[in-house]
Amino acid sequence: MQQELYQESKRYALKRLQEEADYIKSRGLSTVFHYRKEHTLTVVGLARKIAEKTGADMLTCEVGAWFHDLGKCYDSRLSPEDNRKRQKNHGLYGAEEAREFLSQKKADPDFIEEVYIAIKEHVGLTRKENKPMTPLSAAVIWDADKLSKIGWSAWLHFLAYTCNREREEQSLLELLHRDGLETMEMIFRNLNTEIAKKMAEKRLENYQKNLLHMEGVLRGEI
Ligand SMILES: [Fe+2]
Ligand SMILES: [Fe+2]
Repeated sequence: MQQELYQESKRYALKRLQEEADYIKSRGLSTVFHYRKEHTLTVVGLARKIAEKTGADMLTCEVGAWFHDLGKCYDSRLSPEDNRKRQKNHGLYGAEEAREFLSQKKADPDFIEEVYIAIKEHVGLTRKENKPMTPLSAAVIWDADKLSKIGWSAWLHFLAYTCNREREEQSLLELLHRDGLETMEMIFRNLNTEIAKKMAEKRLENYQKNLLHMEGVLRGEI
């Protein structure tokens, strides 16, 4: 039953992510690198690892990870205005979408509620509260999502995503520092679990080391 629910959730999320890719293509933008899908796959992997280390419920974390950003995926059943609303509050709409899907599958109501909270609460890079989030599954989804935004692969994901948006011209070094290192350090300070903090530390160390090298290369010094 659990395995079936997992597979059905995965299938549903991949279908919705494909819908988002089709929408991006229809606007003449590039999907050679489908950020949302890549990001979701990474978050699922991280959620599994953090759940295993913290003892959080695995299925809640896995399903929460698959659904966590579906609120950002274009929904062709809705008007452009309603899609804009979803984008602005993607935590809530993603949580609603998960609740609707899981209810149709007759999942346990407590399980549905926990997935709902974890998705709804995952939005943002900083948290108001200093203490770890509750329930534990919400802390896991938060950490998996944020950890995926730390390190070099995260930076490449960010760059691919940014290249599809209208932004002012800026230097690569500026992007590497402000949208890279500074943002990653801020995200690091807002993690919940010890395992995520440890993993983030390693990623930051590697990022800083290679950033120094990159700076030299970009300035033509190396
Ligand atoms: Fe999100
Ligand atoms: Fe995300």
